[in-house]
Amino acid sequence: MATLYGIGVGPGDSELLTVKAVRTIERCQVVVAPCAIEGGESIALETAREYIKPGTEVIVKHFPMGKKDRVIKALEAYEFIEARLREGRDVAFLTIGDPYVYSTYSHMLKHVRDCGFEVQTIPGITSFCAAASLVNRTLVVGDEELVIMPATKVREITDEKFIVIMKVYKHEEEVLDVLEEKGFDYVYASRVGREGETILTDRNEILRLRDYMSLIIASRD
Ligand SMILES: C[S@@+](CC[C@H](N)C(=O)[O-])C[C@H]1O[C@@H](n2cnc3c(N)ncnc32)[C@H](O)[C@@H]1O
Repeated sequence: MATLYGIGVGPGDSELLTVKAVRTIERCQVVVAPCAIEGGESIALETAREYIKPGTEVIVKHFPMGKKDRVIKALEAYEFIEARLREGRDVAFLTIGDPYVYSTYSHMLKHVRDCGFEVQTIPGITSFCAAASLVNRTLVVGDEELVIMPATKVREITDEKFIVIMKVYKHEEEVLDVLEEKGFDYVYASRVGREGETILTDRNEILRLRDYMSLIIASRD
């Protein structure tokens, strides 16, 4: 029976895929990758492109960021995948970072549960783990907690010491205000592992850059 493989391709560096991810991509007959903007590039696909064998069917599916169309688009993508699986072809669904961290894959899997196809998930290096390595900074240590949150929740920080803030784009000012108010030391990382990779700690430079693919690692004593 055909299998759907959910594959984490890491942060965007084609050397940061696991061996298992590469081998699975190489042998799937169909590769599906998400993009955030209709007709736009898929970072996951660009990251994995060199591992896709000639003759593979490659499709980019649009997954809008807003909540409104998300479920419908996930269903559309799933119907496409289901049709390929019914033909007996294995499908690789690529996601940036890890498939189970803020990923379109999770939405899509809701539709997979009821059908009889096999699903296998291959983990990937998350963007924040890659960012921590890039800046040589500890994410969490000892018996502390690490909180990973989207920028929209930054006002809910209470007594956390180690945090990762994802989806910073368009929320930069508010995030930096809160972090500074609460005495955090922070580093902003954008396009980790990709062309244009940037590391910033200066507030004004962060506000000037405002990159879509960005996150912040922060900690305090
Ligand atoms: C939809 S989430 C995907 C997270 C991904 N599944 C992971 O495991 O890292 C997109 C967010 O991940 C972060 N991100 C993904 N790739 C990144 C990169 N190469 N550099 C910096 N941040 C990245 C950004 O915060 C971005 O807004």
